[in-house]
Amino acid sequence: MEQGPLSGISRGNIHDLHKAFSSKNACVSIAPFKFDSPSPDDVVSNGLTSSRTGPQVSTRQKEKQDSAEQNSVKKRGDSSETSSRGRHDNAENSFSKGSAGGIKSGKSLPKAKADMSTETSSSSKNVEVSESLTGTMNKMSLTEETKKSNDIKTRIPISKSKHKPEEWMLLDEESDTLSQLNLAIVGHVDSGKSTLSGRLLHLLGRISQKQMHKFEKEAKLQGKGSFAYAWALDESAEERERGITMTVAVAYFNSKRHHVVLLDSPGHKDFVPNMIAGATQADAAILVIDASIGAFEAGFDNLKGQTREHARVLRGFGVEQVIVAVNKMDIVGYSKDRFDLIKQHVGSFLHSCRFKDSSLTWIPLSAMENQNLVAAPSESRLSSWYQGPCLLDAVDSVKSPDRDVSKPLLMPICDVVRSTSQGQVSACGKLEAGAVRPGSKIMVMPSGDQGTVRSLERDSEACSIARAGDNVAIVLQGIDANQVMAGGVLCHPDYPVSVATHLELMVLVLEGATPILLGSQLEFHVHHAKEAATVVKLVAMLDPKTGEATKKSPRCLTAKQSAMLEVSLQYPVCVEIFSESRALGRVFLRSSGRTVAMGKVTRIIHD
Ligand code: GTP
Ligand code: MG
Repeated sequence: MEQGPLSGISRGNIHDLHKAFSSKNACVSIAPFKFDSPSPDDVVSNGLTSSRTGPQVSTRQKEKQDSAEQNSVKKRGDSSETSSRGRHDNAENSFSKGSAGGIKSGKSLPKAKADMSTETSSSSKNVEVSESLTGTMNKMSLTEETKKSNDIKTRIPISKSKHKPEEWMLLDEESDTLSQLNLAIVGHVDSGKSTLSGRLLHLLGRISQKQMHKFEKEAKLQGKGSFAYAWALDESAEERERGITMTVAVAYFNSKRHHVVLLDSPGHKDFVPNMIAGATQADAAILVIDASIGAFEAGFDNLKGQTREHARVLRGFGVEQVIVAVNKMDIVGYSKDRFDLIKQHVGSFLHSCRFKDSSLTWIPLSAMENQNLVAAPSESRLSSWYQGPCLLDAVDSVKSPDRDVSKPLLMPICDVVRSTSQGQVSACGKLEAGAVRPGSKIMVMPSGDQGTVRSLERDSEACSIARAGDNVAIVLQGIDANQVMAGGVLCHPDYPVSVATHLELMVLVLEGATPILLGSQLEFHVHHAKEAATVVKLVAMLDPKTGEATKKSPRCLTAKQSAMLEVSLQYPVCVEIFSESRALGRVFLRSSGRTVAMGKVTRIIHD
């Protein structure tokens, strides 16, 4: 153990994660896991230049892309042309490329309308892909994995510390006083996330009266009158028919202090991977709770509810500031007692997840009756006991995080938009580091193709610079469109992101998870990539109090245990050690539709 990969693991590394994801009543006192402090393994790995892999894509990866492309072409048919303005839901592409995808990119609600036929096929694709993933997972073998990882060529990159940002990359605070805020709207199914988002956008003038009338009329005609506001976000025929959000909808509005990018996420348990794709971009979140009797209880249920899983995912992605919107207060007569009860239960759970009280804001509201959204409530049953901020003021109070503007470019691709008419391809997503402008040289990973930025779009409008934190569509030039896929990463050509199939992870197994054994087959999620993974080594169990290795090669890992393990992925993913990039180094492991473990990449292993 002293010479192995665990030597020197210091006290406290798993402390935060444990505290965050263990219930308050957990019988063991657990040392917190720190996402933010590098483990000794990170430090060791950082010094290894060979831990980065170069731009070559493996033959298998190429095969996968080709077949995925064929699928998407077959599915898309004549309606395959997608707007170069980044409007269409291209989840079809996202999923066919084996990524979590599921984000309707660059959505600008009032400006254009998505093609319903494209949306429908996108939605059904979600189901197909998850089935095919299970299928391929069943066929995996370890010997194959080893061969595959040998396909990836390694190259020595330039150390990131040598990167000198140019002046234009740095933020000019005088020219734009509003800061960028990526705000995820999460919560149990039917809690009113889309209705709340739609109503907010309407109140802020982002949806015109005319458009709203149209939604109302169409929703009524389909017997879904109460979903009129949700229809502004739920655009696909399938979403509207089922009355649920399936992919993350992206919308924009400005508050007094922020350019807000709203990420309306699905609450249904079948679409947690899409919710994860939205949460990976979040700087802060609105957790929507349905206050009505029975609905809150169902959403908060440990096994069947999504409230706890969503909160854990947020925390796992490092989101600290959460506005808890206790919605549908109209149904409970704006009862203070009901609000207090919900606050008490959800508050103690969030506390056990290591959310700080000072980072939580509690807002009672009714999206349907427009109470407490952008102004103080007019309803006396609410204003008689609530004098706090309205939702919009609470959004304004959120602090936007510091951005890695001066580091080399890193943008995980959440969606790809192809315009067959103009022969253009755009990569959409949130810049995690660096900055780009038209003419900037970029590299697309994992293929390693290099090209330039033709233009940039934010909220369907051209912009001259995109910096870390911005959510944009980057129109690419000189790049084979087939090499650009959701789950991939755009980076600076001199600082290619690592591409790997074999990783060492430090994880915490979540409550209620089935045991993880050697050979367990799981879904591996990192930024927008989703890949079939096999546990190839259970390196050691970690002491929950000290974070030190306690047992070498354990036979299995059960709920609430922390451990170092190694996974082998079916295909390579773009990934970084957590200490190098939090966004590319946080991982989730899922199995049978549940998140079973979360953690960070501590080492990239080259076989
Ligand atoms: P998913 O995206 O599928 O998880 O659902 P959601 O959280 O987006 O819920 P959605 O906005 O689709 O609303 C679900 C139902 O709740 C709709 O019938 C809405 O009309 C209703 N609803 C939303 N907000 C309120 C509210 O404040 N009061 C009442 N009475 N109903 C509401
Ligand atoms: Mg919804």
